[in-house]
Amino acid sequence: MSRLFSGIQPSGELTIGNYLGAIRNWVSLLDQYSSIFCIVDLHAQTIQYEPQEMQDRILAAMAANMAAGLDPDRCIIFVQSHVVEHTELTWYLNTVTPMGDLGRMTQFKEKSQQHKENINVGLFSYPVLQSADILLYKADKVPVGEDQVQHIELSREVARRFNSRYGDVFPEPEALLSPTPRLMGLDGKNKMSKSMNNYIGLVEEPESIRKKLAGAMTDENRKRRTDPGNPDICNIFTLHKSFSSDEEVGMVDTECRRAGIGCVDCKKMLADNMLVELDPIRERYHDLQKDPDRLRHILQKGADQARPIAEETIREVRKAMGLR
Ligand code: TRP
Repeated sequence: MSRLFSGIQPSGELTIGNYLGAIRNWVSLLDQYSSIFCIVDLHAQTIQYEPQEMQDRILAAMAANMAAGLDPDRCIIFVQSHVVEHTELTWYLNTVTPMGDLGRMTQFKEKSQQHKENINVGLFSYPVLQSADILLYKADKVPVGEDQVQHIELSREVARRFNSRYGDVFPEPEALLSPTPRLMGLDGKNKMSKSMNNYIGLVEEPESIRKKLAGAMTDENRKRRTDPGNPDICNIFTLHKSFSSDEEVGMVDTECRRAGIGCVDCKKMLADNMLVELDPIRERYHDLQKDPDRLRHILQKGADQARPIAEETIREVRKAMGLR
């Protein structure tokens, strides 16, 4: 079976953008690949953070991903810093990565704009750590959102440079895009994100989700209930495609164009369908959060499964590079 790897930011609250862009796709791939998921606490250190909050963030990310269907019996899931080989491989890969390649990374440019007071070397080398994550397990497929494709391209380049300098060790990983790689926010203009405050949380309370949807942007040209709308440019319609049945999507499409359904009813229908999927996830999330010891135990077991694979690769790399 070919191997799949992806990284999970321990960034507290997840949005339905994260869910549709990543987690839901991962869950659908679990049985097709030998899958490894890693909660990337080392990556999270590249942005200023509160040390006493880190463990809660890790457990919250674990609970949310498990609640959404990442079943630890069908994949390996662990915390990056628990397998020290990630940092070791990062160093080796740093030595085959040109600075120019890293300076061109969109995420680096954006994050250094957002955090001008803390443009650290770790932030610069972030994609090398990400390459190390992937290459350490010789993963073939990396399911990510659109914003990470550039980093996966870089990891291919890093693998290629390493192989040509030190011999064939790494396969070149390939990005796998989800069917909804990029979700717009409730403003209908920007990508859904917490920082833009235009999001719906994966484990948000139902009343709050309904309220946010009620205020969400639709087709701007549709001013009155009697105006025909254009679903092609309406973000609510995009969400219908992710949460409603094909029949309902077809109905909304037709009825919106002939002003047969208004935005209020269309949104209400969406909220109902969304909550059918999200209610059980939210409930499982709160149950899992009640038992942090169990989460810690599962993560420890995951690290114990990941470590031997990582150690084997590191042995090979050291040998290839002429180290002990
Ligand atoms: N950088 C990724 C993100 O922000 C997270 C990540 C870290 C990752 N390591 C990875 C994704 C390895 C895929 C593979 O979403």
